[in-house]
Amino acid sequence: MFKRKLLGVGLALFVLVLVTARPAQAHPIVVQTDPPDGATLDTAPGQVRLFLNQPVLLDFTTVELVDGDGNRFSPLAIQPDTENGTAPAAGTANQAANLLIKLPSLPPNTYRVAWKTRSEDDFHISAGTIVFGIQRVVNESAPGGPALPSWWDLTLRWLNFGALAGVIGLLGFRLLVLPEEKLLKDAEKSSHRENLAVLQERLNRYARWAGWVALALGLAFFGGQGLADNLSGERWWELLTGTTFGLRWLAGEIILGLLLALLYSGVGRVKSPLYNRSILVLLVALAGTASQNTHAGLPGSSPVLNILADSLHLFAACLWLGGLVAVLLALGQGYKNAQTEGSNLAWLILRRFSKLAALNLFVLAVTGFYKSGQQIASLDGLLTTLYGQTLMVKFQLVLFAALIGLLNALILHPGLRRWLHLDSSRFKIKPRFLKRALLLEIGTLGIVMGFAAFLSGAEPARGPEFSPFNQATTASNASYSAAVNDLIVSFSVKPNRPGRNFVDLNIFNTRRPAPAPFAKVRLMLTSPNGQENLVELPSDGNGHYQLSGDQLQNAGDWQIGVAIERSNLPIAQTSFAWKVLATQETGSRRPVVFSNQPLQPWFNLAAGLILLAGSLFWLIWRLAGKRFLAHPINILITFVAIKRN
Ligand code: HEM
Repeated sequence: MFKRKLLGVGLALFVLVLVTARPAQAHPIVVQTDPPDGATLDTAPGQVRLFLNQPVLLDFTTVELVDGDGNRFSPLAIQPDTENGTAPAAGTANQAANLLIKLPSLPPNTYRVAWKTRSEDDFHISAGTIVFGIQRVVNESAPGGPALPSWWDLTLRWLNFGALAGVIGLLGFRLLVLPEEKLLKDAEKSSHRENLAVLQERLNRYARWAGWVALALGLAFFGGQGLADNLSGERWWELLTGTTFGLRWLAGEIILGLLLALLYSGVGRVKSPLYNRSILVLLVALAGTASQNTHAGLPGSSPVLNILADSLHLFAACLWLGGLVAVLLALGQGYKNAQTEGSNLAWLILRRFSKLAALNLFVLAVTGFYKSGQQIASLDGLLTTLYGQTLMVKFQLVLFAALIGLLNALILHPGLRRWLHLDSSRFKIKPRFLKRALLLEIGTLGIVMGFAAFLSGAEPARGPEFSPFNQATTASNASYSAAVNDLIVSFSVKPNRPGRNFVDLNIFNTRRPAPAPFAKVRLMLTSPNGQENLVELPSDGNGHYQLSGDQLQNAGDWQIGVAIERSNLPIAQTSFAWKVLATQETGSRRPVVFSNQPLQPWFNLAAGLILLAGSLFWLIWRLAGKRFLAHPINILITFVAIKRN
C-alpha cells in the first residue's frame, strides 16, 4: 500500500510535468549590448540595445542615463528591438527578449547607462550597467556585485517554504506513513484506532493552519513584489493576468484554496481513498507550482526534466521537514511508548517514516546535484560567488541533518545495527534523546530551508561572465595570413577586444636569397566608424613586428591595410577585414581564479552516480533479501555475482 501511494505521487508528478512543461527559462541575463561596455565612439549613438536570454517585462523596465559630470538624461523610449527579429509575439505587447533604448542627442562626454528589468517568467530582477564614451576614452566597467534578494523577499520565501513543509509534510505523513490496521497486532488495534483518530485530526488541523499561513504569505509575496515596483491598479492586474509569474502565483493560491476547502470538508472522511488521493494530487500540484518560483533550468536543457527535478526537490524537502514535525506530534499523541523499545505500533510508524526520510534524502541529493549543475557554471562559480558558497554551506548542513537521521535510524532499526556490526546495547533508546535528536534535525533542516530561500531569490552563478574563453571564435578571428607578392604575411591580435591590444605581424620572404631587407612596415587601421589611423610598426628583427596600444578601441568590423616597403622594390600591400569582438564575445569578464570550465557535466555525473547507486542498492535489497545483506561484504559478493551473470 505504501509503495502504491508513492507510485501515485510519482504518477501525479508525471502528469503535472506533462501539463506544465514549457521551454526552460532562466534568470534574465543581458548577454550582449550595443554599444559594448567600455566602447569609445566618434559620434553619439541614437540608441542602446540590450540583448537578453529571455523575455522581460517592458512595463517594469527602467533606464537611467548619466554623463561623466553627473547630468541626468531621460531616454526617449524603451521598446522591443524589432530589428533583430525579436518582436514580441501577439498578445504579449508588454514583453521583449531584446530591448532598444532610444537616446536623446548627447554631447561628447562619458556616459553610464543603468537598467533594471523584471523577468516575465519568474519576476526576478535583472540589473546592470554599461559605460561608453563619445569622443572620450573609457574603460570597461567592472562587473557589478550579484543581485541579492531584499530582506523581505528572503524572509517571505523562507517562511513560505516552512508553511509548505507544514502542509505537505503533515498531510504526506498522514497519507504515506501512518500504518493501516492490517499491519498491526490484534492487541494494538484498539489503542491504535483511538490514537490514530486524534492524531489524524491534529495533523489535519495543523495542516489547515499551515495552509492559511501559506495562503497569506503568498499574498504578501505577490503584494510585496508589486509594492517594490510602485504598481498602479492597472499594472497590478497586468502583472497578475499578463505574466507567467502572475498566472503561476494565481494557480498556486487556487490550489491552496482547494486544498483548504477539502481539508475543512473532510471531517469524518479521512478513510475515503478518493478523498485521500485528491489531497495527494493537490499536494503534488502545490509543490509543482511553488517550485517554479525559483530559478528554472538552463536554456537548452530539458524542460520536462527541470520541472520534474524542481517539483521532486521541493516535495521531498517538505516531506522530510514536515514529516519530522509530524513524528514529534505522533510521539506526543498516545505513541509515547515508542520511546520504550518493544511497542510494535510506535516502532512501525517511526520505521516507516525513517524509510521515507531516507528516500527523501536520496531524491534531494539526486535532484539537488542536477539543479546545481543548472545554476553553477564553473568551479569559480561554486567557490568564488555568494551563490556557490551558500550552496556549499547548505550542502554541509544537509550532511549534518543526514547524520542525525542516520543516528535515529540506527536507534530504530536493529537490522541496520546488526548489519554495521554495532553494539546494540549502546543504542538503547532514551526518550529524551530521541526527542532532542528530532528537534536538532528539524532545526537544521529549517536552516537549510533558509539557505534554499536565499538561493532561490539570489542571482545564480552563471551567465556570460562565467563562459569559458571561446577558443573557436577567437581563433578564427585572432589571426590572418595571406600571400602578398613574394611575401607571406601573418597578422594576429590579442586579446582582440576593445582597448589595449597587442598586434603581431610576421613577414616571411619566400625567395632565397631575399631580394631586399624590409625598410618600413605600416598599418592602416580603419575603425567601424570609418576613422583612419596610420601607424608604423617597430621591428623585432627576423621579419617580426609588434605594436601595443589602444588603437583598436571599438568592437566591430575593422579594415586593416598592411604596406611593406623594401628598397628598389614596389610596395607590397594587402588589406583585409578584421573583427574586433565585443567584450562578452571574446571571453570571460571574470578573472579566472580556479577554473572556468563547465561544471555541469560533473554535477550531472554525481547525480547519475547517486541515482545508480541508490537504485542498485534497492534492487539488491529486493532480489537478495534482507538476510543476505546481513553483512556489507555480501553486497560486494552480490555485485560480483550479478556482473558475472
Ligand atoms: C545534496 C543536497 C542538496 C543540494 C545539492 C541542493 C541544491 C539545491 C539547488 C541548486 C537549488 C536551486 C536553487 C535555485 O533555484 O537557485 C535548491 C533549491 C531548494 N532546496 Fe535544495 N539541495 C539539497 C538538499 C536540500 C534539502 C535537504 C532541503 C530541505 C529539506 C532542500 C530544500 C530546498 C528548497 C526548499 C529549494 C527551493 C525550491 C526548489 O527549487 O525546489 N534542499 N537546492
